[in-house]
Amino acid sequence: MNKIDYLRLSVTDRCNLNCFYCRPKEKLIQLPPQEILSFEEIVKFLNLATHWGIKQVRVTGGEPLLRRNIVNLVKMLSSVGGIEEVTMTTNGLGLANFALPLKEAGLSRINVSLDSLDRRKFLEITGCDNLREVLRGIAEAKRCGLDPIKVNMVLLRGVNEDEIFHFVSFALENCLLLRFIEHMPINGKGERWYISSTEIRERIQKKWGPLEPVDSSPGTGPARYFRIKRNELILGFISPLSHPFCDSCSRLRLTADGKLRSCLLSGFEVDLKGALREGAPEEEIKELYEKVIQNKPKHHHFNFSCSGKFMFEIGG
Ligand code: 5AD
Repeated sequence: MNKIDYLRLSVTDRCNLNCFYCRPKEKLIQLPPQEILSFEEIVKFLNLATHWGIKQVRVTGGEPLLRRNIVNLVKMLSSVGGIEEVTMTTNGLGLANFALPLKEAGLSRINVSLDSLDRRKFLEITGCDNLREVLRGIAEAKRCGLDPIKVNMVLLRGVNEDEIFHFVSFALENCLLLRFIEHMPINGKGERWYISSTEIRERIQKKWGPLEPVDSSPGTGPARYFRIKRNELILGFISPLSHPFCDSCSRLRLTADGKLRSCLLSGFEVDLKGALREGAPEEEIKELYEKVIQNKPKHHHFNFSCSGKFMFEIGG
């Protein structure tokens, strides 16, 4: 069993993009505010969890920048003793305004999800005509030193596969750490969009020459890194289907409505919010925490069922 030291914290189920593969229309109902964990509840839990091994928190959503007073939350999280790093995954909308306050609040690094660099395609995927705003956000995050900025692109066959080279050039020009993510057919949806990381690497090699694996990866997460020899650019590949990373997984997830779970793709979760709100003693919360860790699956289930839940609800 790996040491669990990393918590992915979803702070809202709301999102300002409607990516067709992530957030189906029939699922647009939002959690009522009283169901969402308060900042105090999150910090209360974290103050305990640091004693049980948690050292890094990644703030996710939905779209985390939509959570009211998110900068305050980041400040609170980074002040918790034992937390070494607070990071965030965002879609980049609003990031131009938030980058500096987030940096000042103690955020270390940022990941930006971006699936197209083409205005029309971006609109087609997300339902929003906001590509320029995302690009401004990335530029501002860079200016503020939220480095290294990782750009995560989910590749979708027949949708954005023609943009691989454009993204590589974009990463080169802007010194970004680009990572290609294999699409997971969650809850049985979207098998036709899948492209394997191997196929992506083959396409890149055809155009840019040999790729070599990088041993000391810039991160402990699920990505495997390769360098384009010709120009030294490092690219990441996250391959949940073709190269599952369960063996090295060190993460837990806390959903916006206070459910603690050990895996995106396992239905097992405990009601942490209930325990916190009932004023459960520390030992009881520790028992819940350990139950989640004991139920951490050793492998993904290949139907990628999230017990009917979607990425935006659990935190991508
Ligand atoms: N497969 C892979 N990645 C996904 N994301 C959302 N749905 C899927 C899926 N089915 C990604 C988003 C974002 C991150 C939070 O999760 O594109 O990069």
